[in-house]
Amino acid sequence: MADMVTPFHVGIIMDGNGRWAKKRLLMRPLGHRAGMKRMLSLIEHAFDRGVKELTLFALSTENLSRPKEELDDLFGLFRLYFTQHISTLLERNIRLRVIGDRSLIPQDIVRLIEAAERDTAAGERGLLTFAIGYGGRQDIVFACNKAVREGKEQTLESFAEKLSTGGMSAMDLLIRTGGEKRLSNFLLFEAAYAEICFSEKMFPDFTDEDFDAALIDYAKRDRRYGKLK
Ligand code: IPE
Ligand code: IPE
Ligand code: MG
Repeated sequence: MADMVTPFHVGIIMDGNGRWAKKRLLMRPLGHRAGMKRMLSLIEHAFDRGVKELTLFALSTENLSRPKEELDDLFGLFRLYFTQHISTLLERNIRLRVIGDRSLIPQDIVRLIEAAERDTAAGERGLLTFAIGYGGRQDIVFACNKAVREGKEQTLESFAEKLSTGGMSAMDLLIRTGGEKRLSNFLLFEAAYAEICFSEKMFPDFTDEDFDAALIDYAKRDRRYGKLK
């Protein structure tokens, strides 16, 4: 993979934890646990491959309508992540950022997120963004309301700055695991020209090698941005 074009910004829609568990006659929480374990290695692998920004879809606005037991379980995993795994980011010089509507998630998690963002703020090697309580359409409306309050017409650039992803690069490669071929309200504005890779694998089965295969596929794409070449 030596002189391959590496995507600067990669997004992953981490889907399929529940079905992974079901196939094994396990309860859904075990699928989410397996997904989190896979995610921890994949984060390190992606930055080792030279990716500079990695954005992971962990919980959508719509996911907040799932049953309480499922949400409690997912929130438990977020608590675990933001307390036990931030040291790895610090060691690796990676900055953490969380996008989404923080009023929709438990406030103790918001405080953990704020601490993790503060602690990793100097990370220069890469940016890891989690989308939690995030919806692409909701974020666009949020940015529109900011623009209205500002009372000025917007350019693409000034509007992009108002989204919760403000300051991040456009997405180059978007991977969705779990076999579904849809965006499910992930970065609608930011992924306008992302190359998309769909994997049939459930997220806990999506290996580092599968990630590399997506990078190889990406390197072969002809990104024309609407122009003639
Ligand atoms: C992805 O896995 C994780 C979240 C959406 C929180 P799912 O929970 O959607 O797993 P499936 O799609 O039911 O298999
Ligand atoms: C998308 O997965 C959201 C995340 C992976 C966080 P969903 O499981 O919510 O997507 P749908 O419901 O199949 O569209
Ligand atoms: Mg799903």
